[in-house]
Amino acid sequence: MTDLSGAVDILVVDDLDVTFKGRRRNQKVRAVEGVGFTVREGETFGVIGESGSGKSTLGRCIVCLVPPSGGRVLHFGKDPFALSASELRRHRRGFQIIFQDPNAALDPRMTILESVREPLDVAGIGTAQERRVKALEMLDRVALAPELALRYPHEISGGQKQRANIARALVLEPSLIVCDEVVAALDVSIQADMLNLFAKLQREFSLTYVFISHDLRVVAHVSDRVAVMYCGKLMELAPAEDLMAAPLHPYSQALLSAEPEPQPAHLRNKKRIILKGEIPSPLNPPSGCRFHTRCPIAVAECATREPEWREVLPGRWAACHFAGAPVPAVSDATVEVLRP
Ligand SMILES: Nc1ncnc2c1ncn2[C@@H]1O[C@H](COP(=O)(O)OP(=O)(O)OP(=O)(O)O)[C@@H](O)[C@H]1O
Ligand code: SF4
Ligand SMILES: [Mg+2]
Repeated sequence: MTDLSGAVDILVVDDLDVTFKGRRRNQKVRAVEGVGFTVREGETFGVIGESGSGKSTLGRCIVCLVPPSGGRVLHFGKDPFALSASELRRHRRGFQIIFQDPNAALDPRMTILESVREPLDVAGIGTAQERRVKALEMLDRVALAPELALRYPHEISGGQKQRANIARALVLEPSLIVCDEVVAALDVSIQADMLNLFAKLQREFSLTYVFISHDLRVVAHVSDRVAVMYCGKLMELAPAEDLMAAPLHPYSQALLSAEPEPQPAHLRNKKRIILKGEIPSPLNPPSGCRFHTRCPIAVAECATREPEWREVLPGRWAACHFAGAPVPAVSDATVEVLRP
């Protein structure tokens, strides 16, 4: 998509499906279904949802690690999946991903410096000396002390390893980085430092982030806008502040209400909604609205008619028959209601 100034969006996800084969014959895992949004350059776009909702699959498809089964991903208006294998390898330098497990991308037999330099070696960028200098510069930018450069992954902490992973992603000068649960494995005491580092690097390198987490507070803290996923689909998309202040979708409301203190003002002194029931399987997603088996305000129609994905308020999208309208009474059969 192009804006009035003629700038092309860095990322468009258009009616995206990602389906995997299940273990049994003819079984399909609909990990992502009909997901669509646009990310602007320089933005941090948050993705939140419970385990198995399809966040990582979406993130992996955005950086071309899994192909779409339907719909499109566009990078600067172009379909990367239409590129030849060698063109795609080159193109992918601009679209990186960092995973939750700090060990995932670090070879235990390589020093930190070698691991950070490796993407440059593989891409054949510059001379060996230039690659070494660039890798050392990136370690400095992520505040890893030079004496750690010659250590092996098992000789440094989880936080230091995650900094090395960031340096490894940055060394190819990407435009966009998918951050998939990047602080989830780290000690709470260093999570804030790491989030500050991501913010600093974003300013210094003009980065765009897709920031995936199951932790609403983390996502809301770092993101400009947030997409809420449930069982492969988007439930809500809103500016982070609006989502935290007044979520429109019952699932977002339940996620927010389940947060430990401090609660946002409008939820203080109100009942807390703890969702009951299993998260449905993407092997056999519920009919109608996917959230209907756990929704506290579901009515009979919700099981048969899928809600439209619509702009309920300017810039605020939701998929619920009742978003922005008077809501039915809360059913205690689907939620546990905790009084303050
Ligand atoms: N390669 C695969 N083959 C088959 N099924 C897969 C594959 N990758 C993911 N899935 C399934 O797709 C669904 C979505 O998984 P995904 O990892 O994207 O969820 P998630 O939101 O990232 O969860 P978590 O918060 O636990 O990381 C899950 O049911 C998962 O089992
Ligand atoms: S459409 Fe129905 S089941 Fe789905 S979120 Fe709205 S009220 Fe709940
Ligand atoms: Mg995941």
